[in-house]
Amino acid sequence: MTHTAHASPADVAAALGLASLPADWADHWAEAEGAFTPGATAFLDEGFVREACAYARMSPDVTDALVDSAACMASNLLLTRLAFQLHWLLFVSKVDVNTATWIRIPACRLFCAVVLLSGVPGLRKMNAARGIDEAVTLATLADLELWIREATRREGVWCFRNLSWLVYHLQGKLFTLGRLQYLPGTFPHPFRFFRHRGTRRVIALAEDGLCFRADGQFAGTVEASQSPGLFTSRLEEDAPGGILRTLRGNPVDPRGHVLSGLATLTFPDWEEILRPGDPVLTVHIPASGPMDPESCTRSFAEAARFFPAHFPDVPWRAFTCHSWLLDAQFEALDPPPANIVAFLRGWYLHPTEGAGDGQMLERVFDWHGDGDFDLAAAARTTTLQRAIAAFMEAGGRCRDAGSVFFADDLPFAPNRYRES
Ligand SMILES: CC(C)(COP(=O)(O)OP(=O)(O)OC[C@H]1O[C@@H](n2cnc3c(N)ncnc32)[C@H](O)[C@@H]1OP(=O)(O)O)[C@@H](O)C(=O)NCCC(=O)NCCS
Repeated sequence: MTHTAHASPADVAAALGLASLPADWADHWAEAEGAFTPGATAFLDEGFVREACAYARMSPDVTDALVDSAACMASNLLLTRLAFQLHWLLFVSKVDVNTATWIRIPACRLFCAVVLLSGVPGLRKMNAARGIDEAVTLATLADLELWIREATRREGVWCFRNLSWLVYHLQGKLFTLGRLQYLPGTFPHPFRFFRHRGTRRVIALAEDGLCFRADGQFAGTVEASQSPGLFTSRLEEDAPGGILRTLRGNPVDPRGHVLSGLATLTFPDWEEILRPGDPVLTVHIPASGPMDPESCTRSFAEAARFFPAHFPDVPWRAFTCHSWLLDAQFEALDPPPANIVAFLRGWYLHPTEGAGDGQMLERVFDWHGDGDFDLAAAARTTTLQRAIAAFMEAGGRCRDAGSVFFADDLPFAPNRYRES
């Protein structure tokens, strides 16, 4: 492999027809250059790519496409240099990168996917050192082919668009445990959760001063057929001498809407178990086939074992999710989607600010924001497509929602929070 130490960001930008490179690339160019050694881009060699693909159980056609892209990258000194730069940023440096600003390199269609593969040996080593079962590493890596196929299906040529998502997988931050995926994060929503010390019942209260529609969704939620009377949430503390005695506020119905009436919690009968900014395990659902309730229940149980065992230093207070799948209106669809409804019923649902139907339209109708969504022309192949289309024709609008589930309440099962 030729040493390309003389390439500058300007050379690479000019070769790519760009005025400048993304800040992450340009700002750390010299540092990465210092780390470059002959052989540092061996991850572009056909042997390396085939071995990494074989390890990740990739299909032959995807493997060949990755080998072709790697050859394309290796045939151009500037692209080789850039590939090393990105590998170094993602897997060697401790730089806190913003991959959302990174651009695609159309000349070699799977450029960023090849760079991700360069992280496979490091991931294997890291996971082995943490005592993680190889089956988990393999299940997690399966997402790479899934997203290459998804982008390729949309564009009609081999391509890859989801670098920012797959970086979590390759950096050993996200794990696929059975049917679901888990990624440590923080709880961003303006709700506080409390548990009664005696009954173990859980209740969420909205933060003070938030504006809700009469149906308990945030003002600004995608327009629905309901009339939009508004109320503002209150959260009032009574804490004489700094000791919290009572908290009075608007409770969140576990079906995902905020109630306009107030509830009073007395302390120390209740304890706070989650508030905005707390560490959580965010839950994600890959498009890897149906998700039957039993496999979801097993996955949650596995996650509750996995993280304390392999990441004892990573604190988390709850599982959380934010998805189009959590729209409680699905329960009233005709017919209701069985697995999706079982899933959303397991959670303590809450509304989300700016909720809309964009993610649903993408995931159900393959609409990607290009032009107006044409309901009349939308596919009606599956039961869900037909049921949602009928719901929309009657004036309904879907909306994504958020959700919380506490490990103390496992097993994950429908109606866990509604029953209490
Ligand atoms: C989540 C998911 C696995 C649920 O699928 P499922 O287990 O089949 O769900 P249900 O059993 O509730 O589905 C009932 C019906 O709705 C259909 N359906 C479910 N999800 C669908 C989707 N995304 N698009 C179109 N139809 C869908 C099913 O095919 C079934 O209809 P059918 O009997 O005519 O085949 C599926 O929607 C999916 O793979 N989505 C992509 C990943 C995703 O959206 N992740 C969340 C991102 S935040």
